[in-house]
Formats: sequence, C-alpha cells, structure tokens
Amino acid sequence: MIERVPTLQFDDLGAGKMVYFSIDGLPVALANVNGTVYAFGDSCRHEGGPLSAGVLIDATVTCPWHGWTYDVRSGKSIVPPVGLRIPTYPVEIGTDGMIYVLIDWGAA
Ligand code: FES
Repeated sequence: MIERVPTLQFDDLGAGKMVYFSIDGLPVALANVNGTVYAFGDSCRHEGGPLSAGVLIDATVTCPWHGWTYDVRSGKSIVPPVGLRIPTYPVEIGTDGMIYVLIDWGAA
C-alpha cells in the first residue's frame, strides 16, 4: 500500500534546508537541493544519528554525530564506508504547494 503523506508547504522549506518528519514512526528527512525536494531516511546507518540535524551541502548530507555522508538523491553513502545506503522516498509537489512523500508500506 502506497500512502501519499502531506508534510509541509514547499515555500516553507528553503533551498539548502532540511526538516525532520516522523511518519507513523518512520523517521524521514526532507531536503531542498537547489529547488528540488528529496526525502530519505533520517537515521544514519552508523549509529542512528539524525541526518536532518546534520549539514547539507548541495546534495550531500553529513551526519552530525560522526561525519558519515550520503547523497540525498540516491541514499548512497559517500565516505566512509561506501556500499551502504539509506532509504529514499518519492516526493510530489501538489498543486496546493504541499510536499507529499510517498511511502510504500508493503502489502496491506
Ligand atoms: S551516527 Fe552517523 S556517523 Fe555515526
């Protein structure tokens, strides 16, 4: 089942900003990269650091706890270690300006 979850207005997420959402307990971060919004898992693959509280430079987020980095577009880790990824989620901008995150909860 895919759920289309409203989060916040696009105009409220400025370029270069991130925000955290708990979607039914699922930790999700949104990032505005030069006007395009990406949604990804907020928990770092190292020890669960809150990525939305880290630093976003272009499409790279750096974890605030120990500095692991990920590409928010693909979820792939950059350094170190490569080969890991955080989940990413499709995003839609509604005609109402709302940012919707599409969460696939699997078979109902
Ligand atoms: S928890 Fe993110 S780098 Fe350690």
